[in-house]
Amino acid sequence: MKERKGIVLAGGTGSRLHPVTLGISKQLMPVYDKPMIYYPLSVLMLAGIRETAIITTPHDQAQFKQLLGDGRQWGISLTYITQPSPDGLAQAYTLTEAFLDGAPSGMVLGDNIFFGHGLPELLARAGAKREGGTVFGYRVSDPERYGVVDYDASGAVRELIEKPAKPPSNYAVTGVYFLDGSAPEKARSLKPSARGELEIIALLECFRKESSLNVEIMGRGYAWLDTGTHGSLLDAGNFVRTLQLRQGTQVGCPEEIAYEQGWIDAKELAARADIFGKSDYGAYLRGLLDVPV
Ligand code: DAU
Repeated sequence: MKERKGIVLAGGTGSRLHPVTLGISKQLMPVYDKPMIYYPLSVLMLAGIRETAIITTPHDQAQFKQLLGDGRQWGISLTYITQPSPDGLAQAYTLTEAFLDGAPSGMVLGDNIFFGHGLPELLARAGAKREGGTVFGYRVSDPERYGVVDYDASGAVRELIEKPAKPPSNYAVTGVYFLDGSAPEKARSLKPSARGELEIIALLECFRKESSLNVEIMGRGYAWLDTGTHGSLLDAGNFVRTLQLRQGTQVGCPEEIAYEQGWIDAKELAARADIFGKSDYGAYLRGLLDVPV
C-alpha cells in the first residue's frame, strides 16, 4: 500500500485581501510571527505525511521555494507544482495526479489554520483509512460562506452544498481533505460549476454518492481559523499570539514537529536554530534542545 502524500493548495489570486496581496501571495503573508503556509504544512506533518506537493501560481512559485526549499531541513520532501489559473480546489487533484501516482492524499488549503488538543490523533485516524474519504464538519456562525453539511433527521449526511444561500446546518466543511487514490480520476470527471470552478464539494459528493465519505465532527475544542478577510487574518494572528505568549509554545512550528516525529535530530535542529539567530523563533528552537521541565 502506498504511503499517503500531502498537498498544500496555495494558489489563487487573494483578491479579497487586495491591495495587500497584489505584490505577495496570500499564503506567504504572516499570521503573527510565521508565514501562513507554515500552519497548513504543519497539519500535514502532524498527520505523519512526509512527501508533499505545494501548489502555487506560476509567478509566486520562486518565493515559496525560497521560503520552504526542498523540505530536507524538516526531514520531508517538497515538490512544487503550478496552477496556471485558479480554476477551483478540485483541480489540485488533476494537477498532482502524476505526483500522487495512485497514493492516497491529505490536502490542506494554504489559508486554513487548525489548532487543538488531540489534533494529531484526529488527523492520524483520518490518515489511517485507506479507502474513501474523510473530511471534517465544524460548527460556524456563518455557514453560507463555506461548503455546508446537510444532515437528515437521523444525523446521516444527506448532501454537501457549496455556499448555500439558505444553509441547512451550521456545519461547514473545513479545508482539510483525506481522500483515497481515486481522487484524481474523480476530479477529471468534474465539470466547472456556475462560477466556472472545479468545486471540491462536487468531488466530495462523488465519494458520498459511493457511500465512501466520512464526515467527522471537529468539535468545539478545536480552533479552525479563517484568513479570508483582513479582519479574520488579524484575528488569526491575535489568536496565535495569545496562545503562544500564554503557553510559551509555538503554534505551527515545522522544526518542532519534525524533531518530535524523529525526522530531524538534535544536531539538525540546532543548525536550524542558528539560522534564525537572535529571533524569538530561534530562541524557541534552542529551548527545545534543553531537557524539558
Ligand atoms: O476554507 C474552507 C472552504 O474553502 C470550504 O468550506 C469550501 O467548501 C471551499 O470551496 C473553500 O471555499 P473558499 O471560498 O474559502 O475558497 P477560496 O476560493 O477562497 O479558496 C481557498 C484557498 O485555495 C485560497 O487560499 C486560494 C486557494 N485556491 C483557490 C482556488 C479557487 C487555489 O489555490 N486555487 C484555486 O483554483
